[in-house]
Amino acid sequence: MSTLAIATAREVFDLLRPELAAIEIELGRDAVSTVSTITEIAEYLRVGGGKRIRPTLLLLSARCLGYAGSGMIRLGAVVELVHTATLVHDDIIDGADTRRGRPSANTTWGNEKCVLAGDWLYMQAFHIALEERNFKVLDLLISLTQQMVEGELLQIQKLGRAVTEEEYYDLIFRKTACLFAVSMQLGAALANAAPEQEEALANYGRAVGLAFQIVDDVLDLTATEEVLGKPVASDLREGKTTLPVIHSLEHGTALDREILQRVLEDGGFVRASREEVQELLHRNGSVEYAMAAADRYAEAAREALAPIEDSEFKRALLWVPDFVVARDR
Ligand code: IPE
Ligand code: IPE
Ligand code: MG
Ligand code: MG
Repeated sequence: MSTLAIATAREVFDLLRPELAAIEIELGRDAVSTVSTITEIAEYLRVGGGKRIRPTLLLLSARCLGYAGSGMIRLGAVVELVHTATLVHDDIIDGADTRRGRPSANTTWGNEKCVLAGDWLYMQAFHIALEERNFKVLDLLISLTQQMVEGELLQIQKLGRAVTEEEYYDLIFRKTACLFAVSMQLGAALANAAPEQEEALANYGRAVGLAFQIVDDVLDLTATEEVLGKPVASDLREGKTTLPVIHSLEHGTALDREILQRVLEDGGFVRASREEVQELLHRNGSVEYAMAAADRYAEAAREALAPIEDSEFKRALLWVPDFVVARDR
């Protein structure tokens, strides 16, 4: 293990300030189409902000391997554009009405226009990625997009029924962790990383991404919409079985199981209330169980960095898993 002290949020932000600002400018340029509705939707999404965690990872990956060129600004924007495209489509699929503390784009423009805006954003991302003239970059992005689409589709197929932990992890890898891993790999590709370094960084990204989605799923059960900026208690209503629920299904009483099954089948709190569900998850220690799993992935992420040389960028990478598990939105 590295003996480097873990950085703070402010240190990480200061360290990447010029690059993150350059990515914002790039994203502003990228949100423009000759068709005004697309520009309106793309601008609305861009201005909504977000944590920009994927570009942050890409920058840290490239920089910890000594890269300092402009490719990381373009590819930082690319991973944020891909992420934004998936959010637009995800909110349509989930029927979500808020995102980033504001009405979701689908509530303002409707599903038809937003499906197309999402497609446009994907292609805009590929368009910018093409400027690298690097087949490895395209290969990573194409496989990624397919994984993410497959993840959302598998999720739809499993709606309303209990899934195993194995199925859950496969799903959250595809829909979330894969993009974290690819963000790291794109940074590594820019730096012409040795295969062992790329693998270490990909493993790091995968572990951070798994922790990230587990925490997202916990926050769906424990947070308030005001803080989270998007709907809460929505996964169960949509029939999604997440890790805390899987735990209570396996370790709760027969009645607990029945309550959860009812909510999943009904697609809402019809025959059981949200309070009943919260009570049983609490009583079974299911939220703690899921957070312990997230903590293990956070630790695995830090350990994955062992082959990477010490630097202030590695210090920042050591901080990200802590941020991911401690976040409240
Ligand atoms: C939301 O991602 C989608 C998930 C993978 C859970 P973020 O929580 O990174 O969303 P923003 O970009 O900060 O809004
Ligand atoms: C993340 O899953 C899906 C994406 C990869 C876009 P969620 O459906 O839990 O994401 P949120 O909670 O709506 O952000
Ligand atoms: Mg969603
Ligand atoms: Mg969620």
